[in-house]
Amino acid sequence: MHAAAIVAAAGSGSRLGADLPKALVPLAGRPLVCRAVDALLDGGVAEVVVVVPPAQRAEFEAALPAGVVVVDGGATRTASVRAGLAAVGPAATAVLVHDAARPLTPPAVIARVLDALAAGAPAVVPVLPVVDTTVLVDADGLVTDTVPRAPLRRVQTPQGFDRATLEAAYAGLEADAELTDDAAVVRRAGVPVATVAGDDLCAKVTVAHDLTLAELVLRAGDA
Ligand code: C5P
Repeated sequence: MHAAAIVAAAGSGSRLGADLPKALVPLAGRPLVCRAVDALLDGGVAEVVVVVPPAQRAEFEAALPAGVVVVDGGATRTASVRAGLAAVGPAATAVLVHDAARPLTPPAVIARVLDALAAGAPAVVPVLPVVDTTVLVDADGLVTDTVPRAPLRRVQTPQGFDRATLEAAYAGLEADAELTDDAAVVRRAGVPVATVAGDDLCAKVTVAHDLTLAELVLRAGDA
C-alpha cells in the first residue's frame, strides 16, 4: 500500500491569538506543521501534501522539509482538503488527512490507521471515549437532557481512506459544503467508517492553553 497524507494547514488560527498562521507557530522551536509532517513520515506515509494559506506560501515552503508538496488552501477546511486531494501523486492508493494543529500525534496512531486500511477498511478514524458527563442545552443554556456517553467518541486525525473512495466522496459533495472532518464527507456518500484507538497526544492545538500544555508534555519527555 502506498499512502499519501494531506496536512490541512490553511487555517488562520485566530483563536490562538498568534500573529502568524497557527501551523507556523513554533512548539519548542519547531513549527506545528513540521511536527505533524515528521510524525506522518515516521509513521509510514510515503508522500505528504501540505495545504497552506496562499498569502504565507513562501514561509511554509521555507519551513517544510524538501520533498513535501505545498498547495494553496481554501476558505474552509473542506475546500482546503479538496485542494490537497487534487495534488496527491498518482502512486498513492491510500490517503490520510491530518490537521497541522495536532503536532504531537504519535507515529503509532498513524500506523494503526494504515494497518486498518491495509486490512481492507475503506475509511478509518482514531477515536477516544468521552469521559465527562455530556448534556444537551437549550438556547438559554439550560440543560435539557443528559446524553448516554458510553457510545460517544471524540474523533481525531489522521483519518485514513481508500483513495478512490475519498475522491468519489469529494466529487459528489456540493461545492460549498462545509464539514468539520473527512469521515463526514465519506459517510455522506454511504461509506462505513471504522475506528481505531486514538491518543491524548493527538490533541488539537486551538487556544493558547493547548500550546502551553503541549510544551509541558514535550518538556516532561512524554511525547
Ligand atoms: O479550525 P480547526 O482547528 O478545526 O482546523 C483544523 C485544521 O484545518 C487546522 O490544521 C487548520 O489549519 C486547517 N484548516 C485549513 N483550511 C481552512 C481552515 C482550517 O486547512 N480554511
